[in-house]
Amino acid sequence: VPVSVYANKEEASKVVANRIAAVIRKKQANGEHAILGLATGATPVKVYAELIRLHKEEGLSFKNVITFNLDEYFPMQPDAIQSYVTFMNKNLFDHVDIDQANINIPDGTLPASEIAAFCLAYEQKISELGGLDIQILGIGRTGHIGFNEPGSAPNSGTRLVTLDDLTRRDASRDFGGKENVPTKAITMGVGTIFKAKEIILMAWSENKAEIVRKAVEGEISSEIPATYLQLNDNVEFVLDTEAASLLT
Ligand code: F6R
Repeated sequence: VPVSVYANKEEASKVVANRIAAVIRKKQANGEHAILGLATGATPVKVYAELIRLHKEEGLSFKNVITFNLDEYFPMQPDAIQSYVTFMNKNLFDHVDIDQANINIPDGTLPASEIAAFCLAYEQKISELGGLDIQILGIGRTGHIGFNEPGSAPNSGTRLVTLDDLTRRDASRDFGGKENVPTKAITMGVGTIFKAKEIILMAWSENKAEIVRKAVEGEISSEIPATYLQLNDNVEFVLDTEAASLLT
């Protein structure tokens, strides 16, 4: 797997933002939509900040952009402070000229009976648009990408999943205690992510060094879904020095 290491997350985030901006501009030049796969969490925050700067200071427009977020907690109201809808609005969408109708985030409010159809429609919508042009990813300490926890199949699609205990512990600060973290989420599958034309997995800090080592150098296994990325030719890991510190 190609790995690029930068001195710090600020520098690395600018590189990733520029990759995304290049996709947007290229599609714009052809009169086409750019289809972006987006992640939430701490990792991409500075990428979004740089995209906002490019919009405000360098004329980057999001008018031709269609986004699909990886995941959302379930159940989750979109206006809750912990929702990924709120996260995306606050960290990106409220500050750029994207059309609201072009934003797609899994729906955390569905009745159980409608989840399967929603997930299928999410997949179909991505395919009908010609697939994701670029997908950005963080990595959880369980080795999850999106919320594809240990045990996820390489060909998995968008679906309702149960969050790993470690993932809920890592989210407990946002929710004021693990007991308040939803036990489930709707996530794009490993298979959905794999179909993206470019995939960039980002990781910062010593906290991620061990799981990054396993993802990049470990045996490919459903126990660490990020290891599946070793099988994809369109993947790049973008790391800061600390997250890369255990790579041989
Ligand atoms: C978020 C997502 C997750 C996170 C991962 C890392 O949409 O799909 O896989 O990328 O849990 O989270 P942070 O960035 O908060 O360390």
